Amino acid sequence: MSASVPASASACPVDHPALAGGCPVSANAAAFDPFGPAYQADPAESLRWSRDEEPVFYSPELGYWVVTRYEDVKAVFRDNLVFSPAIALEKITPVSEEATATLARYDYAMARTLVNEDEPAHMPRRRALMDPFTPKELAHHEPMVRRLTREYVDRFVESGKADLVDEMLWEVPLTVALHFLGVPEEDMATMRKYSIAHTVNTWGRPAPEEQVAVAEAVGKFWQYAGTVLEKLRQDPSGHGWMPFGIRMQQQMPDVVTDSYLHSMMMAGIVAAHETTANASANAFKLLLENRPVWEEICADPSLIPNAVEECLRHSGSVAAWRRVATADTRIGDVDIPAGAKLLVVNASANHDERHFDHPDEFDIRRPNSSDHLTFGYGSHQCMGKNLARMEMQIFLEELTTRLPHMELVPDQEFTYLPNTSFRGPDHVWVQWDPQANPERTDPDVLQRRHPVTIGEPSTRSVSRTVTVERLDRIADDVLRVVLRDPAGNALPAWTPGAHIDVDLGALSRQYSLCGASDASTYEIAVLLDPESRGGSRYVHEQLRVGGSLRIRGPRNHFALDPDAEHYVFVAGGIGITPVLAMADHARARGWSYELHYCGRNRSGMAYLERVAGHGDRATLHVSEEGARVDLAALLATPVSGTQIYACGPGRLLAGLEDASRHWPDGALHVEYFTSSLTALDPDVEHAFDLELRDSGLTVRVESTQTVLDALRANNIDVPSDCEEGLCGSCEVTVLDGEVDHRDTVLTKAERAANRQMMTCCSRACGDRLTLRL
Ligand code: HEM
Ligand code: FES
Repeated sequence: MSASVPASASACPVDHPALAGGCPVSANAAAFDPFGPAYQADPAESLRWSRDEEPVFYSPELGYWVVTRYEDVKAVFRDNLVFSPAIALEKITPVSEEATATLARYDYAMARTLVNEDEPAHMPRRRALMDPFTPKELAHHEPMVRRLTREYVDRFVESGKADLVDEMLWEVPLTVALHFLGVPEEDMATMRKYSIAHTVNTWGRPAPEEQVAVAEAVGKFWQYAGTVLEKLRQDPSGHGWMPFGIRMQQQMPDVVTDSYLHSMMMAGIVAAHETTANASANAFKLLLENRPVWEEICADPSLIPNAVEECLRHSGSVAAWRRVATADTRIGDVDIPAGAKLLVVNASANHDERHFDHPDEFDIRRPNSSDHLTFGYGSHQCMGKNLARMEMQIFLEELTTRLPHMELVPDQEFTYLPNTSFRGPDHVWVQWDPQANPERTDPDVLQRRHPVTIGEPSTRSVSRTVTVERLDRIADDVLRVVLRDPAGNALPAWTPGAHIDVDLGALSRQYSLCGASDASTYEIAVLLDPESRGGSRYVHEQLRVGGSLRIRGPRNHFALDPDAEHYVFVAGGIGITPVLAMADHARARGWSYELHYCGRNRSGMAYLERVAGHGDRATLHVSEEGARVDLAALLATPVSGTQIYACGPGRLLAGLEDASRHWPDGALHVEYFTSSLTALDPDVEHAFDLELRDSGLTVRVESTQTVLDALRANNIDVPSDCEEGLCGSCEVTVLDGEVDHRDTVLTKAERAANRQMMTCCSRACGDRLTLRL
């Protein structure tokens, strides 16, 4: 399919005489200027008005429709037939005749590559060229990226002052790009000039007198790309994506064409290089402007993969991308005519509060950072995203280790190359005292290596250190532990039913939060398990007030449905912790509820005083006092609108399950801390295919793999957390095929509806599933 483009892009697309009120373009829309200072300084902020008031608008200045909300931007990326990428690399500013003549002199013929290729040509080409981007292949590049990064830092580490862009962040990604592509390293300064010219030529607004100079550089870049390609063709046996492409051309000349190879030779350098250089410069600027975050990642490098992801969301390097409508269509409530050009503003989508909580905050523990659209989405989503993530992780690791004390040179003004799409500061000046370089006193710092995460980071890996503020024995064998942020900052908010993962020696254990609503502390209660191999024994015997613990979360797999008409809360023993938090919450909101607390004897039952505070809504069932709970009587009559929430020993939960069989599906909610999933047994499991509707791929899931494993091996990002079927974060939408559900998240009715699945554990009943991915 080829996209039609209107002859005059800047003409107002609305038929004015037909409209009584005249031109419908709002004042804000008329004033929108993507080359002006507001958009250049902060594209997301400059479009806040649009996200709030007019999420799709026509910009007469640009001749484009501008799309700014997350869901709309994603919907445009998702549908590459109605929203063709054909104009992705088109010059956004009409070119003067002189500049056109200059380009012609160099036989400039930039054509379709991948990013601007339509179906049906695009997907076969993308599939043919995908292999070098898989996590398995990318792992081979890690030592090269580390070596280069180390060499560049060596050059300035003793100097006390550096422009990170000029001295590292421009050239290392360029050299990595050339290695990855399999292109000989050329004169870096010339390459830099070429790349900038390409950006200005494609996404910038050069003044007429600049256009010829830009065209000269672009023409030379084109010729250079042709020369390199010819050299590679003579011996295409080498490493790298371009020789790989040449070899694929020999097998599939119609898919990997000559025109593709020449265009990609030039566009590929820019795609792989400038995007990553800018993203890295944005990341260092953002982190150093948020000093406490910088210090946190210096102290704990395991936070780096998530920090990279949040930097890509908050200050990504591709601010906007382009599509053209191939048919009359709608985006949100707005009619879009066939031929309309669209500027989809990824940077604005990434700051949309409809998708990201407090989107302007920079939060490296944000659970959904990787939903950002900086890499696009769907069948054209960036193929190089995991190479870029790897580079950024290594840059951060190297500089947080060797120059943790560096700071931004104060009062520097950050400047940006004016253009719609590629965004990063021209310079990032930093300074430090070389006397304080850690390697001067401890050369071992140079040996430290933190493993790179290839692919999307897992929320599970995000931890924080807390201080033990109080330890109180509140029942036989039950210790209450109050935790606080070491700097006294507020801890992340949590909801009743949430738990934290606590690292205890070599083990990790999950404990429900049960404190009152105090933002600065977390409270858990830990029962000493006589069989303990270290978890609860460690808490009871080794924990001291003032000591530190590492925790992850909070996460909530056991959230309250706020819409029930009545709640029955049932707790057994230490299971009181989440249930009490729920009952407190219900009382504070004036909801209708009852609380049943079961235990063997009072001295072993924690929080009796707090439970007593619930007055006659609370009933104690103490078995040694002859008041054992009668579950059959408690749940004798199903009441619609009533929800039961229970936590306690397996026996109690099994009893509740039995006693509530005649209740509506989904009425009983049970807290599971551990999963009953067993390791995949290839003799029992079967392999199947996943058809990914948004990405246009078919992915094989082997009998030894989870769906999540198979998706990740093919560079498809899916968030995950527990990876045991407990939390719901790896859920995807199922469009076709029957799912073999193995999680504990979905209700019976949701399973039967077959519209969702947890990719970390559930599988296909048959030989195929179609997913919205
Ligand atoms: C496509 C961003 C790094 C290779 C794209 C697209 C974006 C993007 C926005 C278009 C997506 C769409 O239309 O849905 C970025 C950013 C990067 C980065 C922000 C760095 C932080 C890289 C690297 C490489 C690369 C390092 C190569 C080694 C590609 C390719 C495509 C692409 C080949 C075309 C895919 C297709 O159309 O099928 N990138 N990119 N990118 N990128 Fe990247
Ligand atoms: Fe938690 Fe899959 S990651 S259910």
